[in-house]
Amino acid sequence: MNEYDTLRRLAKAAKQINATSINELFVTDGERLQELTVSLRGMRVDFSRQKLDGETLGLLLNYAEQRKVSKFLTQMAEGEIVNISENRPAGHIKARKQNNKSAEPIRQFVTNLHQGVITGFGGRRISHIVHIGIGGSDLGPRLVYDALKRSKEPAINVRFVSNVDAACINDALSGLDPASTLVFVVSKSFSTAETISNAKIARDWLNQHLGDNASSKQMYAITANAEKAGDFDIRAKNIFAFEKDIGGRFSLWSSVGLSLAASLGNANWQQLLAGARAMDQHLLQTPMSRNLPILSALISFWNLNFLKMPARAIVPYAHRLSLLSLWLQQLIMESNGKSVTSTGKPTDLLAAPIVFGDAGTNAQHAFFQALHQGPNPVPVDFIGVIKDAENHPQQSKSLLANLLAQSIALMCGKQDLQNPQTNFPGDRPSTTILLDELTPFNLGGLLAFYEHETVVLAHLCRINPFDQWGVELGKKLAVQMQNRLDGMEAPKYDMATEAMLKHINKKHDK
Ligand code: F6P
Repeated sequence: MNEYDTLRRLAKAAKQINATSINELFVTDGERLQELTVSLRGMRVDFSRQKLDGETLGLLLNYAEQRKVSKFLTQMAEGEIVNISENRPAGHIKARKQNNKSAEPIRQFVTNLHQGVITGFGGRRISHIVHIGIGGSDLGPRLVYDALKRSKEPAINVRFVSNVDAACINDALSGLDPASTLVFVVSKSFSTAETISNAKIARDWLNQHLGDNASSKQMYAITANAEKAGDFDIRAKNIFAFEKDIGGRFSLWSSVGLSLAASLGNANWQQLLAGARAMDQHLLQTPMSRNLPILSALISFWNLNFLKMPARAIVPYAHRLSLLSLWLQQLIMESNGKSVTSTGKPTDLLAAPIVFGDAGTNAQHAFFQALHQGPNPVPVDFIGVIKDAENHPQQSKSLLANLLAQSIALMCGKQDLQNPQTNFPGDRPSTTILLDELTPFNLGGLLAFYEHETVVLAHLCRINPFDQWGVELGKKLAVQMQNRLDGMEAPKYDMATEAMLKHINKKHDK
């Protein structure tokens, strides 16, 4: 049997499974819960509420064997070229290794900052970092900062600037003392328009308040393009370079996380990396049937391509993980939102669900109506934290109670034959991830879990998850549109665009 036969058998299995409910699957298979639950240090993941049975899982694992998933993952971890279109390895696993060469400069910088060796203008102690970056140079650091800022030591606060909307940088700089603020320009390419434009504003802000040389002392670049950072007048000793082979959305673990190491402290930063490394070990050493990222990828592959569920909701019942769905949106949709294989052939296999989400219980009061009664079932990832560090235990229990309640309601539903309005069809799949606590270690593991799941899913669909050609066209057009708004010569476009340009220019001229 080859992989195409397996895909055909999976399609047949999907038809059969539609006649059974998830609830019934528990009744017919007493081992189900054990087989579909995996615990690691600090984390328990339960896939048993997904709509698949033992036969389906067997076929999916078979397909993973046929796609040589384990071999591919070893090749990726060993630095072979897996990003074919850009002819590069994928360096994110290497970035979080203990002996990585960027680790020591980060550690030293953080020590110097905390000991007051690195200061601001006039020897002022640093109290704030303004982190300027977008996409992968923003979402991961912002998520981790939000999640862990309680464990911050000492008191260095980070403000994030991503959007080219001036409101973003205005808000970030508002009330800051320039003399005690460092500005980190985080950009792999050091040519992203939004980031460079914000960096110029921040540079002017430092120099206007503190004198012309201030930016050269207080501005840092975190980049894989040191030359461009130099052209921006950032001095060599303020440049933290990282390798080009680390993709933007996988770059959190490199010096892109510098503002995290600086604000959370070296120990917490190390724990975050250690958690991710533990997940790497698990990925590379665990048989596929017990391997968390592989199982999760297979289930996503099944939901997308066979049960025909094109979306996925991410609902952490942890306010501090509110940004998780945004980070995952980029990770999954920028990596896998493609219609051609890594060799450029068209493919029908879907590798990227439409990802959306918000923290529970807020999400319950926003989009859960559609999850329970909408016509299109959406698989949900519920993420819970068993012990939080807050001081209201009843509220912590209430969060967990809501998480459990929602997953039951989705799976079991509630039949009301009298009134269709209050009928809940049930049989809606979910995965539940329970973290013991929201520690740096557990968070590192959770994020690495999703990274690996994304890469495996891409490999199952023959897609290259490490490039993002789809973002280029819009960027180029934006330059031309800006020229048109500036009254410069640029190509003419369709009627609707021309009408809008005319309308905007008329309003600007008033
Ligand atoms: O959105 C496109 C993209 O290239 C992302 O992949 C990347 O994370 C982001 O822009 C920012 O890029 P850079 O770090 O080069 O500024």
